[in-house]
Amino acid sequence: MMGRARAGLLSVAVLPLGIGFTVQPNEPWVQAGPPSYARQVAPILRARCVECHGADTKEAGLDLSTYEAVMKGSEYGTVVEAGDAAGSLLVEMVTAGEMPQDADPLPAEEIALIRAWIEAGATNN
Ligand code: HEC
Repeated sequence: MMGRARAGLLSVAVLPLGIGFTVQPNEPWVQAGPPSYARQVAPILRARCVECHGADTKEAGLDLSTYEAVMKGSEYGTVVEAGDAAGSLLVEMVTAGEMPQDADPLPAEEIALIRAWIEAGATNN
């Protein structure tokens, strides 16, 4: 009975922290600061996107191989709106499973990490 009450309290306490910060299983769950572009976001893009969105093969004019190119966007416009994950086309497409094209969708924790990075301002951190 005590255990039940404690578990209830704990989940309430953890909930707000869960957003954006539970996504790196190899890091302490209370992480100081937002996700890092260089250490956390770039490796996902490199592994899953750059074969089609690299400096040479720029599908839709979109190069995801450097921070500057990610922020520049595609031939149609920006795909990352700093501070607005929901308004970012890149997030929309990975969430819908449209990107990466013809491949398994990104795992939920990778999408959460990219969202948290954008929400925190999409800096070159
Ligand atoms: C197998 C090739 C391939 C892979 C891998 C791939 N893409 Fe794409 N991507 C495309 C093609 C082709 C288009 C243009 C046609 C379309 O929109 O479906 C595109 C379009 C896009 C667009 C829309 C650009 C615009 O302004 O219309 C975004 C954003 C995007 N990709 C993001 C990603 C992300 C993020 C990843 C990795 C998680 C990824 N893509 C992986 C081929 C790929």
